[in-house]
Amino acid sequence: MLSGTDRVAMVTGASRGIGRAVADRLVAGGFRVSAGVREPAKFTQTDRIAYFRYDAEEPKSADAWLAATIERFGTVQALANVAGIIRPYTLYTEDDANFDEMWRVNVKAPLRLIRLTLPHLKASGEGRIVNVVSVSGKMLASPVVGYAATKHAMMAVTTAVRRDAWKDGVRATAICPGFVLTDMGAGSTRVAQNDMTKAEDLAEMIHTVLLMPNTAGVPEVIVDCLDQW
Ligand SMILES: NC(=O)c1ccc[n+]([C@@H]2O[C@H](COP(=O)([O-])OP(=O)(O)OC[C@H]3O[C@@H](n4cnc5c(N)ncnc54)[C@H](OP(=O)(O)O)[C@@H]3O)[C@@H](O)[C@H]2O)c1
Repeated sequence: MLSGTDRVAMVTGASRGIGRAVADRLVAGGFRVSAGVREPAKFTQTDRIAYFRYDAEEPKSADAWLAATIERFGTVQALANVAGIIRPYTLYTEDDANFDEMWRVNVKAPLRLIRLTLPHLKASGEGRIVNVVSVSGKMLASPVVGYAATKHAMMAVTTAVRRDAWKDGVRATAICPGFVLTDMGAGSTRVAQNDMTKAEDLAEMIHTVLLMPNTAGVPEVIVDCLDQW
C-alpha cells in the first residue's frame, strides 16, 4: 500500500454528501486535500484541507482551482470526481435542459478536470483518479435515462484514462454505488434510509483504492445495499 502521508488529493463535491465524507476520510488518512466547492467561504481552512471555488458549470473555475492547488500544495497526486446531480429526464422528456445540465456537471466537468490534472498525476508516477459513478453506469437502475446515460459515459471516460495513462503510473477507478444516504439518496423511496449505504463506508473504500500500489490497479468497485448483481 502507498502511504497517504502528505499526498495531495483534489476532491469535488466536498461541501456535503459523499464528497464531504471522502474529504474527511482522506484528511484523517494523512492526505492534504484541495476541496473544490461552490462556496469556499463557508468552510474552515486548516493546514490539511484548503477550499477553493469550483463550479462544474464554469469550465474556467477548474483551471483556477488547479492553479490555486499547485500554488498552495505544489503538486497533485490524486483526483476524486464526486460532484454530481440527478434531474428528471426519461425517454419521453422533450425539453433537453435537464439532460444538458447533467452532461455538463456529470461528464464534461469531470473529464475536463482529468485532462487538466493528468500532467501532474503522470509526473508523480503514482497518480490516482477516482470517479464516483453509480450502479446507473452499469445498468438502467431507474427510468431516469438521462442520468444513466451520463453515468455510462463516465464508465467510458474512466476506461479511456486508465488505458491512456497506465504506462505513466496513473490508475483510474470507477466507484459504482447503489443508494447512498445523502441529500441525493434520501430523495429515493425505493430503499428505506436505514438500509442505504453510508457515505462514510463509501469513503473508506475510496481511501483504500487511492492507496493501492501501481501493481494493484482497481478498474471498478461496485458497492450496493441491494442484492441485484
Ligand atoms: N446518493 C446516492 O444514492 C448516489 C448513488 C450513486 C451515485 N451517486 C453519485 O455520487 C456523487 C455524489 O452524490 P451525493 O449523493 O453526495 O450527492 P449530494 O448529497 O446531492 O451532493 C452533491 C454534491 O455535488 C456538488 N455539486 C452539484 N452541482 C455542482 C456544480 N455545478 N459544481 C460543483 N459542485 C456541484 C454539490 O455541491 P453544493 O453543495 O454546492 O450543491 C454537492 O457537494 C454524484 O456523482 C452522484 O451521482 C450518488
